[in-house]
Amino acid sequence: MNPNPILFVLPGNESFAMAMLRHLPAEQADLTLRQFPDGETYVRVHAQVSGRDAVIVCTLDHPDAKLLQLYLLASVLRDLGVRRVLLCAPYLAYMRQDHAFSPGEAVSARYVAKGLSSFLDGLVTVDPHLHRIPRLSDVYSMPTQTVQAAPAIAAWVSRHVPEAVLIGPDAESGQWVQAIAKGAGCPGIVLEKVRRGDRDVEVSAPDRAALHGRTPVLIDDIVSTGGTLKATAARLRDAGLPAPICIAVHALFADTAYEELVASGVASIVTCNTIVHASNGIDVSESVADAIQCLLG
Ligand code: R5P
Repeated sequence: MNPNPILFVLPGNESFAMAMLRHLPAEQADLTLRQFPDGETYVRVHAQVSGRDAVIVCTLDHPDAKLLQLYLLASVLRDLGVRRVLLCAPYLAYMRQDHAFSPGEAVSARYVAKGLSSFLDGLVTVDPHLHRIPRLSDVYSMPTQTVQAAPAIAAWVSRHVPEAVLIGPDAESGQWVQAIAKGAGCPGIVLEKVRRGDRDVEVSAPDRAALHGRTPVLIDDIVSTGGTLKATAARLRDAGLPAPICIAVHALFADTAYEELVASGVASIVTCNTIVHASNGIDVSESVADAIQCLLG
């Protein structure tokens, strides 16, 4: 029996899977995934999987349709006698609605975690948005491995930005600022953010003295509307500081968010390759491959 896992790569994840396969002894299997004329999903596995471990590579930006594909694929793999089904989701969706802010709101983070844990045997992801839920294991009942992007980001900053100063727009970003500052050997500060709506945020002004003579590098885990990074860059501009380099782990970029952030006058935008995007410049695939091996034992 071949001890290496079989990889099923869902559409859009090909480049990440290819990068990962340089570090992971696994074989990629064929899969047919298409829509019936009525919009329902058809899945067919073209591989002998009985007794093997399967890893599904599917990052979870725009997650709703992908969640059903995952469920159908994991279910057929189970019927075909697979040993364990692991999900490799470099971006893990539905982590931000982690609380009912108004009566009657769905706490999606909990419900999605419960659903995924019910048909998968393990999860590998990169920097899930953990805020009011402190650990993935608080909501995921299956084994999980979390990869931190901070070492790869710190290496990028060290290589590309002499005399950097890291700036986190809000308390949540503090953990990344701290870890990257340590890895890159540069200072970091964390600002305060007030969110009034999906696209309406206000960020506090930075202390000019702390940034003097250094290149500002904004750090956030997720960029979605780009509102947070744009508001932070505007506060730097107000203070007469140079245009910042923006770094985010997960490049969600809703609608025209990327174009708007570029147009706002930031110096450059660099993201990790957890979601395929033109701004990807930091590769985390090797750490994800290691985490998969670790989870498989
Ligand atoms: C929030 O807590 C996150 O860390 C990000 O700051 C946030 O998701 C960014 O969203 P947007 O780009 O829509 O401001």
